[in-house]
Amino acid sequence: MKILKMKNIKPIKDEGRPKVYIETYGCQMNVNDSEVILSILQDDGYALTEDIGQANVILANTCSIRDNAEQRVWGRIDQFRLRKEQRRDVIIGIVGCMAERLKDKLLDSHIVDIVAGPDSYRKLPEMIRAVTPDSPQMDVLLSREETYADITPVRMDRNGVSAYISIMRGCNNVCSYCIVPYTRGVERSRDPRTILKEAVDLYTCGYREVNLLGQNVDSYLWKDPESADGDVNFAQLLEMVARISPDLRVRFSTSHPKDISDEVIYTMAMYDNICKHIHLPVQSGSNAMLEKMRRKYTREWYLERVRKIRSVMPDCGLTTDIIAGFCGETEQDHKDTLSLMEEAAFDAAFMFQYSERPGTLAARKYPDDVPAEVKTSRLNEIIALQGRLSLESNERDVGKRFRVLVEGVSKKNADELFGRAGNNKVCVFPAGGHKAGDYVDVEVVSCTSATLISRLV
Ligand code: SAH
Ligand code: SF4
Ligand code: F3S
Repeated sequence: MKILKMKNIKPIKDEGRPKVYIETYGCQMNVNDSEVILSILQDDGYALTEDIGQANVILANTCSIRDNAEQRVWGRIDQFRLRKEQRRDVIIGIVGCMAERLKDKLLDSHIVDIVAGPDSYRKLPEMIRAVTPDSPQMDVLLSREETYADITPVRMDRNGVSAYISIMRGCNNVCSYCIVPYTRGVERSRDPRTILKEAVDLYTCGYREVNLLGQNVDSYLWKDPESADGDVNFAQLLEMVARISPDLRVRFSTSHPKDISDEVIYTMAMYDNICKHIHLPVQSGSNAMLEKMRRKYTREWYLERVRKIRSVMPDCGLTTDIIAGFCGETEQDHKDTLSLMEEAAFDAAFMFQYSERPGTLAARKYPDDVPAEVKTSRLNEIIALQGRLSLESNERDVGKRFRVLVEGVSKKNADELFGRAGNNKVCVFPAGGHKAGDYVDVEVVSCTSATLISRLV
């Protein structure tokens, strides 16, 4: 099949245009938001630069999920100070979750000219125009409606193969440790017609994978009073996107264990092009911790969902997020997490130490009382266990065949390509004349805990 390659959906000439430099921290949704921001600024005459020295406007799209994510950005703001000393007219903007959380505290640094929250990106052009050395601009109003549904993100990915599509914004859960509901506001779902249009446009431009994003995709719900067809839930949306083309792969993230429905699981099983991978953050294996975290499920419920997924899709990849050292966590709670990991046999995990976030329920109600060194040693134990589980999971795949979507040239060897199997595992294999965007069939010959080393078949 001939693949039409186009990196940006809206290519424009750069000469003479003012330049914006954007750096992104945090989750996939923030990556996609930066693409929305670029689209808005391109329409206002800006061109993207990858050279910060050329930029008229420098934007950092920030994350507040853990304290260390914020510390990194404070470090960057210090470096931006040097840029400003060299070039006084450069405009510095802090946007995203940290802007929403810290608001005018960011202006106290006297480095930052613009503070814009996640629902204020349409205002960025006018905010940039209004900035003077004495009047920094701030807009941190959260919205109940904004989904940027009509904006076509300008893709900043390098491969032109796989793209993010945000299907909803915000979060209505109140997991007690989590800052997201405060930085992103209430949950709102995006009009499915705009999602489908974006996916079709991407496919037409040569993309072969879309990743549907939301903090809790299972609660996606579009209510259309004008449509006779009624509501659209996540399983239905998934099916609509999967039907665009059998050559367009569909992924999604994040699933919430309390909400993932049998309908979603069966829909996944029905379509070959819906990748068999679920990211299902468990956070803890202890019921006492899950209760305090306000996750609204138990260990038993979680493991039942895992069994259901595996009974319908035996080869489904399963990944998770885990927090070590939440408030009051005992040695037994920690052991419960380790035993749940073994039982669920996760393929991979993102693992974190609990970081208290000001203003959250946990920060107000529970002392952050697990000593730092205990958090670290528990996290290390969790990481070591996951290392073994990932290796065992990959060893089970040796000898199996997978269809892989090629994403690019392997970093370690220019004669090799890499791509993902449906279960989200990374495969590396000899190039054999293939290129990014091709589907290839491979057989796994050996593995590490991170990679399936494969050959073409
Ligand atoms: N919406 C997703 C998670 C988004 S945040 C869900 O509900 O699963 C991504 C991950 O960051 C979370 O799953 C959690 O493991 C971690 N996280 C969130 N707040 C945290 C905190 N205060 N300290 C440490 N890790 C945290
Ligand atoms: Fe945070 Fe919970 Fe919402 Fe995920 S579901 S974003 S962890 S509040
Ligand atoms: Fe971070 Fe905001 Fe995402 S806090 S994880 S960038 S939603």
